[in-house]
Amino acid sequence: MTSIFEITHKDAAGRIGKLTTAHGVVETPTVMPVINPNIQVIKPSEMYDFGAQMIITNSYIISRRDELRETALRDGLHSLLDFDGPIMTDSGSFQLSVYGDIEVTNQQIIEFQQAIGSDIGVPLDIPTPPDVPRGRAESELETTLERLKDARRMVDAGNGMLLAGPVQGSTYTDLRRRSAISLSEHKFDVYPLGAVVPLMESYRYADLVDVIVSSKKGLDPTAPVHLFGAGHPMMFALAVALGCDLFDSAAYALYAKDHRYITVLGTYHLDDLHYLPCSCPICMSHTAQQLQQADNCKELLARHNLYVTFEEMRRVKQAIREGNLLELVEQRCRAHPRMLEGLKRMYTHSEWLEQHDPASKSTFFYCGPESADRPEVLRFSKRLERFTITGSAIIRSTPSKRDQDYDNILTFKSPFGSYPVELLEVYPFNAEVPRTPDHRSLTRALENTIRLIELNPDAEFTFVCDGDIDHPLLEELSRLATVEHPDTT
Ligand code: GUN
Ligand code: ZN
Repeated sequence: MTSIFEITHKDAAGRIGKLTTAHGVVETPTVMPVINPNIQVIKPSEMYDFGAQMIITNSYIISRRDELRETALRDGLHSLLDFDGPIMTDSGSFQLSVYGDIEVTNQQIIEFQQAIGSDIGVPLDIPTPPDVPRGRAESELETTLERLKDARRMVDAGNGMLLAGPVQGSTYTDLRRRSAISLSEHKFDVYPLGAVVPLMESYRYADLVDVIVSSKKGLDPTAPVHLFGAGHPMMFALAVALGCDLFDSAAYALYAKDHRYITVLGTYHLDDLHYLPCSCPICMSHTAQQLQQADNCKELLARHNLYVTFEEMRRVKQAIREGNLLELVEQRCRAHPRMLEGLKRMYTHSEWLEQHDPASKSTFFYCGPESADRPEVLRFSKRLERFTITGSAIIRSTPSKRDQDYDNILTFKSPFGSYPVELLEVYPFNAEVPRTPDHRSLTRALENTIRLIELNPDAEFTFVCDGDIDHPLLEELSRLATVEHPDTT
């Protein structure tokens, strides 16, 4: 059996892939616009015009209304929505989490999704919110796992509907991981990460990062992952870099309803906009004032919101192709201090990221102190043992005539540290870095240099402080090497 998900390009833990469904192949990462079967601000068939390849709707809502249910059962879901591409259907789990109780069983909703011809179905998982007592998270997870296994027995693998296995476990990272491992044993086709909407609504991006990473650690790295309820383009780069492939956006319509205008740097209230910072067809044909006063303002805003959503996803894919996704993540995470917390948390997982990050890619660009904790820097520090240095060695950042007097010439470059001069043009040492390193970058570089010296006790090192560098670690270094200050000697 050929795999339904084929990864074609990688960067960090992110990837471009091809997901095969009964209604065609989609290229990931991608966003599925959420279609409310009751109210369609924008028709599903128009979604292609924005760049959508796939949509998602709610099978529970369809099953609850006689006209919708009967049409779907008679003519199929694709005819009901007038969309000929892949359609994913959610179960009533979200309604379950909001209203506490719903009138459908797991078995009924799975059978219904199959009967209407859904391309990807979702069982009735329990979206356990963040921060609940551990006992509740554990018992709800038990129920979820039982239902998912029942669903897997009901839906034949490799025949018609793909089956999603949502990962739950609230904010308990060990439960997320255990849940992911358990689901992987039953071979679902897509793994959504569930109940993350409350984290995103309250800007808890650091906790979101932990949930994604702990879940990913329990999943097969070649399986497609869906971040349930994530539709704000501001966080696409971050989530993709952590290995999320599918997203769904109700945000484009929900925000429009509240007169909110999405940009990758954050959201504006339409009343606060004097200018439209976008070149989509809506923004080019209206002024801010015209948009505010338009009778169909909400529809126009929904269209703009979709345009910027898909624009960002294309930018993320281009970044993967170029190998500079982490640079994009670092830029995006500066849009909000809570996103910056997410970035910092992501790099506490550099050890894990490093296992996925390609060993060679485009030039490393230093974008700020967080870059000092990138997986590439960590990888270099883990490989210091590979350098064997004997005799005399000079470490400096700029070449000088004296270099010839030494057996070894090492280049000092923050945030990496010291490496043989021959590697200067080799990735990642060909990095573009500021000529005046910040404290964090210098800390990393000096720590790595000290370790390199300690690993080669028989060599005799001279460290030339030829930048205008000043750092407390220089004192420690001076106990292991001759430290020279060219400006003062
Ligand atoms: N939509 C947003 N979050 C969830 C979730 O955890 N489970 C399901 N089934 N749908 C969702
Ligand atoms: Zn626009």
